[in-house]
Amino acid sequence: MTRFFWHCLTMIVAIYLAMLSGAAQASAPLPPVLTAADLRPHTDLSGPWNWSIDPYRVGVSGFHGGAPGPGSRRYDDVDVETHLIANPRALFEYDMDRAPSAILPSSWLNHSPLLRHYQGLMWYQRMVEADPRAGTRTFLRFGAVNYAAAVYVNGALVGRHEGGFTPFAFDVTEHLRSGANRITVGVDSTARDDSVPPPVTDWENYGGITRAVSLITVPETYIDDAWVRLGNDGRIKASLRLAGSHAAGQRLSVRIAALGLTMGGVSDADGVWQGSVAPPRALRRWSPGAPTLYDVEVTAGADSLRDRIGFRTIAVRGSQILLNGQPIFLRGISLHEEELGANPSRIITPQSARALLSLVKHDLHGNFVRLAHYPHGEAMTRMADEMGLIVWSEIPVYWLVAWDNPGTLNAARRMLAENILRDRNRASIVLWSVGNETPVSDARNAFLRTLIADVRSLDDSRLVTAALLNRREERGGRVTMVIDDPLVDDLDVMAVNSYNGWYSDDALAALPDFDWLSASGKPLILSEFGADALAGFHDAGADPRKFSEEYQADYYRQTLAMADRIPFLAGMSPWILKDFRSPRRQHPLFQGGWNRKGLVSETGQRKQAFGILAEHYARRAAH
Ligand code: GCU
Repeated sequence: MTRFFWHCLTMIVAIYLAMLSGAAQASAPLPPVLTAADLRPHTDLSGPWNWSIDPYRVGVSGFHGGAPGPGSRRYDDVDVETHLIANPRALFEYDMDRAPSAILPSSWLNHSPLLRHYQGLMWYQRMVEADPRAGTRTFLRFGAVNYAAAVYVNGALVGRHEGGFTPFAFDVTEHLRSGANRITVGVDSTARDDSVPPPVTDWENYGGITRAVSLITVPETYIDDAWVRLGNDGRIKASLRLAGSHAAGQRLSVRIAALGLTMGGVSDADGVWQGSVAPPRALRRWSPGAPTLYDVEVTAGADSLRDRIGFRTIAVRGSQILLNGQPIFLRGISLHEEELGANPSRIITPQSARALLSLVKHDLHGNFVRLAHYPHGEAMTRMADEMGLIVWSEIPVYWLVAWDNPGTLNAARRMLAENILRDRNRASIVLWSVGNETPVSDARNAFLRTLIADVRSLDDSRLVTAALLNRREERGGRVTMVIDDPLVDDLDVMAVNSYNGWYSDDALAALPDFDWLSASGKPLILSEFGADALAGFHDAGADPRKFSEEYQADYYRQTLAMADRIPFLAGMSPWILKDFRSPRRQHPLFQGGWNRKGLVSETGQRKQAFGILAEHYARRAAH
């Protein structure tokens, strides 16, 4: 990787930084990446947090819009009850220490029946013991907070973040005191027309602190970014960036003990180092059939971190996707980030991730998952690495995004960078997707092309895609699905969501004769197709009705027969593994607030179509 690339990357991140601060401050410190933060020693702040709703945002502004008064500032470093006893005439209209508590991480939808449909501002608080040591720095890291967060330590604002699905961290070294510290987070789930995603989607908006919160202490000079992978030239490459006052001229090393491999050197004036080495013959490449992961240890000065990394190459050749130089057909399924169960609240633990992915790997005979429609948590992507499932990762640039709004573009670019910088050590991730079903326009094309350029700058080792829509024509008396979205030219892999026979009144028996046409010669993934079925609702008639299991099963039979005739098809991720919550779906008998396109119900009850897809994938896996 050339020095020029790294300086381009630094510029990208500088732009990223300017987005954060809204001003061109290229010299300011970079937002921390904290590679493999989930594996670093840390204080886990999971557990009981007090919560207090604030639907009229009185903790943010007064009744005429000015600053909130002391009796409303939920983030103040005050024990309200003690203060009131000492000051009988004081007035407080909150008390975080005596507010109800809930176990985080979790969306607030489950804190109380009263919160099932709450959207807006919520305050969380907990106390945490700290013992700051000289020569170290401490970060407060959030795995994800949906949608916007304002974070306070002992009454001082330490940072804000927008975006519901990517990690962020603030250096709180100067704010922590020995003993008890008060951490307060204002979480606002409100989606605006200029947010990413916009307000109208097809999934539940789970507000809250939905992934792990931790305090991570590192040496004053630490390893912030470490990307280790197998390049398409067959060499193992490492790109490191240190941060701190002694980042420059620091001796560092990358060690893979199982391969007897060590590489290293000295960081440059920017704290950056990259190197590569030919791997030993003993290297076992990662694949779904052999998901080999290696312990990689990175050391620089007083800091060290470890990660579990798989080594593989990915490329396209004509209409094929090549994994380790061999064509692979992606036998997949789509997933939302929702655990199995009747009352999910977007808590994905390693156990719940394994439960979902086992259905894909062992029961559907799949080798691929589309983690829709936003970056899923590290638990899911690490589980995919471990179990051997190829991943499509995406940011929620979904439907009607404010294409002309610079703030919206900044938010999307930042999410993309946070997603890639968090996960580019994950061998399972093969595809970065920059959009889903976005209507074609010049503004949309420019917006998505900016994101594609960012992907190329941040990660030249993976493929870029986007879930597009296609046109439907009659050609020679035959229904023809034409893929001619102008964005195809900028993608490595085309993807199309297509619902013939569900969002149309086509007879299912007609589907196998539908033709597909693309002039690009690129690989195609059918990134969505599906039909709703209420588990247990049957129609044994000759012409089963929609929402019956029989209709969904026949929909899959006929759509798969159609897919078998697409010569440039390289994979598919039907919509969707599991029924999921969607406020759009309100048929009282069949939906009740759930999108029922799952092959299993929300509690894991299998529908007939599950077996249809499983048989299809077993056949494909056999040759
Ligand atoms: C769209 C969209 C999904 C949605 C699905 C559906 O393709 O991408 O988010 O859930 O169709 O209509 O069920």
